[in-house]
Amino acid sequence: KKVLVLHGVNLNMFGKRDPAQYGTITLQQINEQIAALAAQLGCEVECYQTNHEGEMVEKIHQAHEEQIDAVVINAGAWTHYSYAIMDALGILKAPIVEVHMSNVHAREEFRHFSVVASRAKGQIAGFGVNSYLLGLRAAWELIKEAE
Ligand code: DQA
Repeated sequence: KKVLVLHGVNLNMFGKRDPAQYGTITLQQINEQIAALAAQLGCEVECYQTNHEGEMVEKIHQAHEEQIDAVVINAGAWTHYSYAIMDALGILKAPIVEVHMSNVHAREEFRHFSVVASRAKGQIAGFGVNSYLLGLRAAWELIKEAE
């Protein structure tokens, strides 16, 4: 079983962004923790980051073609406005878990709305790197439920 973890726009800059919101952890360190948990759960995982909306859309199409079992996505700012990513996620049959490092609901108004949420099973926000780890666990539970 394979989970695809998608990181959207600007997330390669974790470690250099506002530490009050995102801490000081880098994307590489986040991916290492994801890989370690995946190994523990016994699932295959691929982590992918891009700053280009069309590339993200194509990665989601590819996930559909490859019949990926679940997707964990932090779409960054695209979360709040990208209908293209929303529609791409809508093509997937696999369960989708939305994650955010920061508590988007405690921040600016524009971060309260998510177009990804309408395509996701649920959302985990505000726990830093643990949002990803909880998201992976949620994805794993959804995979097992579907078996
Ligand atoms: C974020 C929250 C978004 O509002 C923001 O644009 C990001 C990161 C998070 O992980 O907390 O880039 O998705």
